[in-house]
Amino acid sequence: MDKLIIRGGRRLSGKVPVSGAKNAALPLMAASLLADAPLRLRNLPRLVDIATMADLLNHHGTAVTLEGATGNGTGFGRVMRLETPAIVDTTAPYDIVRRMRASILVLGPLLARAGTARVSLPGGCAIGTRPIDLHLKGLAALGAEIALEEGYVLARAPRGGLRGARVVLDKVSVGATENLLMAASLARGETVIENAAREPEIVDLGRCLVAMGARIEGLGTSRIEIAGVTRLGAADHRTMADRIEAGSYAIAAAITGGRVTLLGAEAAAMEAQIEILRAAGVKIATVPEGLEVSGGDGIRPVTCTTQPYPGFPTDMQAQLMALMCLADGASVITEAIFENRFMHVLELARMGADITVAGASATVRGVARLAGAPVMATDLRASMGLALAGLAADGVTEVHRLYHLDRGYERLEEKLLRLGADVARVAA
Ligand code: EPZ
Repeated sequence: MDKLIIRGGRRLSGKVPVSGAKNAALPLMAASLLADAPLRLRNLPRLVDIATMADLLNHHGTAVTLEGATGNGTGFGRVMRLETPAIVDTTAPYDIVRRMRASILVLGPLLARAGTARVSLPGGCAIGTRPIDLHLKGLAALGAEIALEEGYVLARAPRGGLRGARVVLDKVSVGATENLLMAASLARGETVIENAAREPEIVDLGRCLVAMGARIEGLGTSRIEIAGVTRLGAADHRTMADRIEAGSYAIAAAITGGRVTLLGAEAAAMEAQIEILRAAGVKIATVPEGLEVSGGDGIRPVTCTTQPYPGFPTDMQAQLMALMCLADGASVITEAIFENRFMHVLELARMGADITVAGASATVRGVARLAGAPVMATDLRASMGLALAGLAADGVTEVHRLYHLDRGYERLEEKLLRLGADVARVAA
């Protein structure tokens, strides 16, 4: 198991390409199950989770071929061609699903295209219980019969396929919205999803589905209308830039007092992040290549609550907390999406941070300096928070269980080295 060795204290500077978004790429890949024609996805990040989704789709009958680098001159990202002439197996096995919860995103497409699906229930997760009740309730509203058996969801569409319906989500859920959007695209009649999630990754998925022939209105709003069609076709789609990766590198610039250009970052998808970072004293400018971020004039404390889009993303909470560890005063960060997403707090405390947690809120009292230490990654974003703290800390930080980072950050150490960081991946 690899670890990341970080010698802190260097100001980062230079340009770094932002990769395609993991959380857009995964549902986009699952959408390829909906059609018997090829889907070409460009700007896909090279990540463990992308490989896992490719394994799963291959198992269902999708031919997955890589066409090499995206050709955007950055050397990052790739082009993938996905084609499912027929669904040969409607079971998503535990062995694959346990590696990645997002595997649940094949449920809607399998049900819509093959009329039946048997998908392993995603197991526990470090950041929260993460049930899938909203996915199941929504698909049941489209006429599916749903049962749970031996750790699997068994779903069967009615004769003639799923039928359109009005679905009101009890809670805003990205995954449930994506599963329903894909399923409803091939359902008979009109579906309306109320209280839908508005994340840019859902808009990206919706745009791709429309390019495949789906009829969808209201993407990016909390009310999405889908008029089902009988068949979807081929499409060629460029995956949006990763707003969470971009935000993470923005904080890398700010926490080291550096100046970094995020090539390809999409400011329109990062408004809440930009607003909070500016409130913290970080300078952010939109430039033709993307975003330019610089720190260096001190870090101001902020008060922030994570929310569904367009609010501040929960996937940036740990990274923001790392920055607030060095703020000039006390910050309050409230995690309102997941009930157990403060696993990084005790690890940051090992580096000298001063944080107290009460319920869903953490009070972070800024300290003058952090000290390098061996720390343990517990989940994807927590580990990025620890790496960011390590970039600013005195001495050496060792981030153990690097595999967490590999799930969501493309060639992290290579990008950090480009920006002048002193980092190395070593076998633990
Ligand atoms: C997506 O997860 C992202 N993952 C997560 O990113 C992200 O944190 C999350 O959205 C919120 O923005 C992918 O896109 C692959 P939700 P998802 O359904 O779809 C509850 C990362 O770091 N809920 O919007 O699983 C749930 O427990 C990952 O890249 C139900 O109660 O999130 C949570 O409290 C981590 N029942 C809330 O809703 C359901 O059926 C939001 O979850 C579904 C969700």
